[in-house]
Amino acid sequence: MKNAPTIPASEFAERRQRLLKALGINAIAIIQSAHVVIRNRDADFPFRQDSDFLYLTGFNEPNAVAVFIPGRAEGEYVLFCQAKDPAMERWTGKRAGVEGVIKDYGVDQAFKIEELDQQMVKLLSGRSEVYYRIGFETEFDLKVLSWLNVLRRQARNGVAAPHTFKVLDALVHEMRLFKSPAEVEMMRYAAQTAARAHTKAMQTCRPGLCEFEVQAEIEREFRQDGMEPSYTSIVGGGENACILHYVENRSALKAGDLLLIDAGSEHQGYASDITRSFPVSGRFSHEQAQLYQVVLEAQKAAIAAVKPGNNWDAPHQAAVRSLTTGLVKLGLSQGEVDELIKDPPKPEDGSAAQEAPYRQFYMHKTGHWLGLDVHDVGDYKLKGEWRTLEPGMVLTVEPGLYISPAENVDPKWWNIGIRIEDDVLVTTEGCEVLTAGVVKEIVDIEALMAQ
Ligand code: GLY
Ligand code: MN
Ligand code: MN
Repeated sequence: MKNAPTIPASEFAERRQRLLKALGINAIAIIQSAHVVIRNRDADFPFRQDSDFLYLTGFNEPNAVAVFIPGRAEGEYVLFCQAKDPAMERWTGKRAGVEGVIKDYGVDQAFKIEELDQQMVKLLSGRSEVYYRIGFETEFDLKVLSWLNVLRRQARNGVAAPHTFKVLDALVHEMRLFKSPAEVEMMRYAAQTAARAHTKAMQTCRPGLCEFEVQAEIEREFRQDGMEPSYTSIVGGGENACILHYVENRSALKAGDLLLIDAGSEHQGYASDITRSFPVSGRFSHEQAQLYQVVLEAQKAAIAAVKPGNNWDAPHQAAVRSLTTGLVKLGLSQGEVDELIKDPPKPEDGSAAQEAPYRQFYMHKTGHWLGLDVHDVGDYKLKGEWRTLEPGMVLTVEPGLYISPAENVDPKWWNIGIRIEDDVLVTTEGCEVLTAGVVKEIVDIEALMAQ
């Protein structure tokens, strides 16, 4: 794509250097690529690289294993990969091959993947600590154990087998949580494309279309920029908007209903994640507008709480308080806001815990980290406390209200589902909304749809 940002090779090298340094001189780290997953019989799902592997290697092929060995004279970065094979490449596409990964991916030493077992025993010999993603994939766990056992059998020959196993995940995930300037550019680019796609959806939508037709418009915009959806698009009209993970997208859109679209694009692995809710025919009804405004105010309150020094939960707390205040004003909830947002104490008789009343209408959290995974990695708590927001973190802010038919709810509110979701970068001053390119004020949505 013209002018599309990319992560430079130097940044991948710098990530690996940071990892090598963090490992320490007696350690070795091993990380496997994703696999091709069979959909059914001879048909595969589209290949998606493992995000940790992609972060460290930039290499987008399956059947690969990367190994990091601090201080090793023959090279600290070893990659096992698929060999060149013209017959196979005719079916499944080009491969870099052993020479290609050295030339183009900064690899110090490369082997064919078939040599993995034999070479890993040698690479592990003499290393005391092994970092890998313990328990991530049983088959790989068994492989690592088999290498260990081969080495143990050689103990009488003076071979030292590793004695400490550590989870690699924590190291890599902490690195991934803080986005570099180049990563922010990738995410901004994905966010801009997704914002344009949502704008297109508002412009295209009209009664009588089916949900999948709007989905097609959105995904067309993604693909035009060389991207694909970062998760299965949710396009739900009317009561379907109240199903949080609705992905059928097959119903016809009706005048008078709202349409909730949760759809994001992925640029070279980096995700965007946007939700907008708007009227199918371009004008909010009185009730829809009232509820929408409550969600919008809550979203703004939550975004205002995204700043360095605040903790992870501050935006959620702000959203819950704001939503509940709005629900009381509209008569959907009765009582004191402080009481309505408090989870009741756990019953002492062991019976099921009750939930705070607001959860009837708002049953999810207000966001998640965003990056190479839509629900990105990184700890939300440190030592039992919500972690502090710091510049370079990216999160979503996505409050909503979902009013299913219920005895305690006036039918005029039934089946209205609203979520508003933006992607937000924590900056030194506060935050930047990366997805600001698609409107969310009622007047702006109605003006856009009236054009
Ligand atoms: N699209 C998934 C989410 O919003 O978390
Ligand atoms: Mn989200
Ligand atoms: Mn979403």
